[in-house]
Amino acid sequence: MEQRRILLAVTGGIAAYKAPELVRTLRRAGNAVRCAMTPNAVQFVAPLTLQAVSGQAVRTQLFDPVEEGGIDHIALADWADLVVVAPATANILAKLAHGLADDLVSTVALATRAPMLVAPAMNLNMWLHPATQNNMTTLRQRGVRIIGPESGELACGWDGEGRMAEPQAIADAAAWVAGTRALAGDVVLVTASGTREPVDAVRYLGNRSSGKMGFAVAAEAARRGASVVLVSGPATLRTPAGVRRIDVETALEMREAVLAELPEATIVVKAAAVADFRVARPEAGKIRKEELPPDSGPTLDLVRNPDILAEICRTPGNRVVIGFAAETGDLVASARRKLERKGCDLMVANDVSREGSGFDSDTNAVVFVWPGGDVEELPCLSKTEVAAQILDRVAKIRGGNG
Ligand code: PMT
Repeated sequence: MEQRRILLAVTGGIAAYKAPELVRTLRRAGNAVRCAMTPNAVQFVAPLTLQAVSGQAVRTQLFDPVEEGGIDHIALADWADLVVVAPATANILAKLAHGLADDLVSTVALATRAPMLVAPAMNLNMWLHPATQNNMTTLRQRGVRIIGPESGELACGWDGEGRMAEPQAIADAAAWVAGTRALAGDVVLVTASGTREPVDAVRYLGNRSSGKMGFAVAAEAARRGASVVLVSGPATLRTPAGVRRIDVETALEMREAVLAELPEATIVVKAAAVADFRVARPEAGKIRKEELPPDSGPTLDLVRNPDILAEICRTPGNRVVIGFAAETGDLVASARRKLERKGCDLMVANDVSREGSGFDSDTNAVVFVWPGGDVEELPCLSKTEVAAQILDRVAKIRGGNG
């Protein structure tokens, strides 16, 4: 693992006794580790112990002048490449889910832009309580990674789910969440979701893209250390941590935003479902059926939208350009035609008529269609994993093997 700056936040549960071992495991993997503790955590493990194993002063108070004089809490939040909360009590999980900031750990957690990994540890009934489970759902949806808890004998005498994951497992998960930094220095421009083309003041032509695929690519690129710009059509998804998002509605707006960001971009991934046509003259008001001849609808005059991907590929510059092809018939042949017509470095073809693939699903079954004829068929994977596979191919493209 490459060296990362990990802030270990220790909260007040019996599993805090494993924190020194976790610090040592993280450091053995080459990371720089700093520790922050809640006042309750100090009841279970001495700050001096964590100071000895981390080699850094340990912070326990929000407003202590001496501690703030060393590294203030905002600087600590900015310092971290990754925040690991272990053990994470039901209390801190509730605070994280609701954005409370009433002690050092919760304040730093709110202030940081670093990804977060939590290792819950608590009594079985506290873990299974709907309040805790709702908080976990909130955190998961926000992109917080969770490891454990594991099942077994609990300190409180109960047997069941609630044990903190072992330090080695937490360190492995931290390595995964922290990412590879393989794209540090890259600027990745991603498009996501579908465009909406107005018909009148209330209606539009659109498609079923949710943005999940493009958002997954943006999140994965950020995890790999890239500076990421996400140009998105309307989507209800949260912006991934560390990603700058530009919201657009129509294909023309998407083109304008993409072309403005293009000069800086070293990698472009066009996962958006861009409308090929727009209504030539959308009505300013609402089209009323009462104003049309009986039993007839309006006739829409459609014009072609610009092909943004083709335009990117024609724009001179040393960048990797990856397109998507949403297909329903002969996947590979159609994707190959698009690849040749548009001129990108790789076409990611997905069969949008297949169950669990394409629009709005959490998984996708894709085929990589390469210039020169090679085809790689991937199994149906989560969109996060598809995103990782796509970004893994950047090195291959740069190596000239595409
Ligand atoms: O958002 P999700 O619900 O997760 O669904 C994901 C997805 C199915 C939308 C995604 O995986 C996908 O296939 N995106 C591309 C959809 C699409 O517009 O495909 P296309 O075959 O029509 O276009 C080919 C490529 O040209 C795409 O990269 C597209 O962004 C681009 N294009 C198309 C038309 C246009 N006017 N300008 C473009 O840049």
